[in-house]
Amino acid sequence: MDIKTQLEELKAKALGELAAGGDGASLEAWRVRYLGKKSQLTEILRSLAGLSIEERKEVGALSNTLKIELDAAFKIAEETLLARAASSADAKDTIDISLPGRPFPRGHLHPVCQALGEISSIFTAMGFQVLEGPEVEWDYYNFDMLNMPKEHPARAATDTFWLDAPPNDAGWKMLLRTHTSPMQVRTMEKNRPPIRIVVPGIVHRYEATDATHLSMFSQIEGLAVDEGISMADLKGTLHEFARRFFGTDRRVRFRCDFFPYVEPGAEMAVECGVCRGDGCRLCGGSGWIEVLGAGMVHPNVLEGVGIDSKKYSGFAFGMGIERIPLLRAGVEDIRLFYGNDLRFLRQF
Ligand code: DAH
Repeated sequence: MDIKTQLEELKAKALGELAAGGDGASLEAWRVRYLGKKSQLTEILRSLAGLSIEERKEVGALSNTLKIELDAAFKIAEETLLARAASSADAKDTIDISLPGRPFPRGHLHPVCQALGEISSIFTAMGFQVLEGPEVEWDYYNFDMLNMPKEHPARAATDTFWLDAPPNDAGWKMLLRTHTSPMQVRTMEKNRPPIRIVVPGIVHRYEATDATHLSMFSQIEGLAVDEGISMADLKGTLHEFARRFFGTDRRVRFRCDFFPYVEPGAEMAVECGVCRGDGCRLCGGSGWIEVLGAGMVHPNVLEGVGIDSKKYSGFAFGMGIERIPLLRAGVEDIRLFYGNDLRFLRQF
C-alpha cells in the first residue's frame, strides 16, 4: 500500500472515531493514538527518509496537512465536550424563572363545616348571634326543661347515650345531647328577651349507622324570643333562609308537626332540587325534602326559665346538617362524610 493511501485511510479512521463521540478519557486516548509521539502519523513521517526528494515533498505536505486537520478536529471535539459539561452543570445551578410553579395541594373545610358556616352566616346577616353549647349535657336541659318531664313518651323517640356518672345533687343525669335544643334553655336562663341565636353543634343518638343514619351528626338550632313574635315571623325568617341557601326558585312548604317544646309545631320542606317536585329517587318520590322542625316556643318552656309567656313569645327551629350537602350533591350514603376518603371530600 503506498503512503498516500495509508494517509487517507488513517484520516478516515481517525475522524470516524472522533465523530463517534465519547468522554474525556476516550478523547485523550484518541489524541495519544493519532497525534502522540508514537502515533502512526509519526511513523509515516519517519519513513520519509527512504523516499526520493520528489516523493518526500509530496508525502511531507500531505502528512502536515493531515496533522493540522487532526489537530483542528481534536480541538473542536475537546471544546464540544467542555461546553456540554458546562451546560449540564448550569442546569443544576440555575432556576428557570419563566417555568410555571408546581401547584401546591390545598385543603379546604369539610363539607359539613362548609354548610354550617354558610347557614350560620345567613342567620347572622339577619341579626342572629352564633353560640355553642356542651355536647355532654344534663337530662334536665336535654329533656325536662323542654317540656319532656321524666316518663314523657317523647323521650323514647330518640335513644340516648347515657353517661356512667352519678346524678348530681338535684338528680340530673348526664348524657350526650340528642339535639341542640338544650341550648335554648341555657340561653334563656341567662338572658332576657330580645333573644336571637343560632347554635351549630354535634349531637349523638344511640342508633345503628346506615346509609341515612349516623349515631353522631350535626345540627343547627335557632331561637328568637321577643314581644309580639308570631308564626308569621317564623315563616318569614325560615322562608328567607331557604331562599338564600337553596335559591330563590325553590318552593317551600310548611306543614304541622309535633315537638313537645313548641306549640304549634311545624316542619319545613323545600322542593326537591333534582326533580323540581315531580318525585324522584332522591326525594323518595314525594317531590319535597324535609329540612327542619320548628314551632312557637311552648309557654311551659318560657315559664320554666322565668320568662313571662303573656308578655313574650318566640319561635324555634332545628335542622340536621349532614343531609343538606348530601341532598344538594345527590350523595347516596351519608357515611361517606365521615369515611375520611379524600377522593370524596375533595369534590366539595
Ligand atoms: N330538636 C329537634 C330534633 O332533634 C328539631 C327541632 C324541632 C328543634 C322543633 C326546634 C324545634 O327548635 O322548634 O329533631
